[in-house]
Amino acid sequence: MNDPRVAELLEFVRIPSVSAQSEHAGDMERCADWLVSKLLRMGLDVRKEKTPGNPVVLGKTARDPAKKTVLIYGHYDVQPPEPLELWTTPPFDPEIRDGRVYGRGASDNKGQILAHILGVEEALSEGPLPVNVIFLIEGEEEVGSAHLAEFMEKHRAELACDAIAISDTGMAAEGHPTLSYALRGIAAMEVRVYGPSHDLHSGIYGGAVANPATAAARLIASLHDSTGRVAIDGFYDAVQPMQDWERIAATESPLSDAAIAEQAGVTELFGESGYSAVERIGARPTAEINGIGSGYQGEGSKTVLPAEATFKITFRLVANQKPETILALARQHFEKLCPPGIRLEIMDGHGGEPFFLNPRGSQGAAACRALESVFGKKPALTREGGSIPILADFEKILGHTALLLALASPDCRAHSPNENFPVENFLTGIRLNKALLRELAG
Ligand code: BES
Ligand code: ZN
Repeated sequence: MNDPRVAELLEFVRIPSVSAQSEHAGDMERCADWLVSKLLRMGLDVRKEKTPGNPVVLGKTARDPAKKTVLIYGHYDVQPPEPLELWTTPPFDPEIRDGRVYGRGASDNKGQILAHILGVEEALSEGPLPVNVIFLIEGEEEVGSAHLAEFMEKHRAELACDAIAISDTGMAAEGHPTLSYALRGIAAMEVRVYGPSHDLHSGIYGGAVANPATAAARLIASLHDSTGRVAIDGFYDAVQPMQDWERIAATESPLSDAAIAEQAGVTELFGESGYSAVERIGARPTAEINGIGSGYQGEGSKTVLPAEATFKITFRLVANQKPETILALARQHFEKLCPPGIRLEIMDGHGGEPFFLNPRGSQGAAACRALESVFGKKPALTREGGSIPILADFEKILGHTALLLALASPDCRAHSPNENFPVENFLTGIRLNKALLRELAG
């Protein structure tokens, strides 16, 4: 493949911009610099702005006051690539196989944001843009976007716009145009479970001292009932039920339960009864354990009663659940169940509110027209399970609900080994950007 556009994507993916791992601090700067020089070469007015975390890249086309302004958001940070041994080719040495670019960040979000950048580049080479464009590209989305809201407050006037466009979600089916009109919110928590002052011989003390690993397992198990519903008191109190048209849209989703099971590599799906898998993922809140650690994990056996255990949870939220409320309810739940001889330390993590766009509004309709014109099919309207924490702040600070035009393949393996992005989606994304700018100009 010697398309220079694809070569640029490979170059972008080659930078290991892992925001969760401090050893990559230099790579975060390098990745922001890569974007700065790309946008500079396109003739944009570009700045790399410091934040207390990773830098934000801001790029603007020359502002014509007679034209509308579209802000395009994306992120250059990626998730940790581990476990490395499960990658067919190294995560930061991208390769094209079967028409897909394989590498960490290929679809989440480097391929998708680069499609927008290259769309603007092509449009600029064809003549004046139909709108003014602002690129806002951050380096902390995968760790909760902790510093972006403050940045937006500070630069509110400069970021003023008429619409916000994002491609950071998944298509309902391969090649099927998709407008993601709802995303779940998120609330993260880490629980440390302490017992004895040091690891003990499990024969000398076992039976007389509470085991933190057992306590952690009981706390984790207490999160759900046997039907998959979250068993924290008050967890569902604020949940808005799906509207009738949404349940109909969900039945029309090109994504079947069987396809979801196949992508996930399971023979049977599991979840809250009364809802299809598409509904469970998009419209119902959850509690997921993301990591557990305790005791001896090495080869062979070791008779130890560990001094501590830890587990990490994220709750996915739907309208109108609030991250702070859910974290407070979870804390009460764990404290109430904490057994004697065990001490808990509970740390609240990042949070983001659920997102909802009325797809029938004028901007939703413009996005749908752009999708239909490029893909030649009516777009699917989907509710997605993933989260983009800054979306609520876009509404509060910039006054617009974002348009989420999905470009990732349903089988993109975001956050997993062998993440990939079809070259076709990348090239279609470039055309989609141009169509979208035209539609939003009207
Ligand atoms: N691109 C995803 C969000 C996404 C994925 C939305 C799939 C819809 C479908 C984004 O990069 C992401 O992974 N967000 C994190 C946010 C978290 C770390 C605060 C997520 O959802 O886990
Ligand atoms: Zn992600």
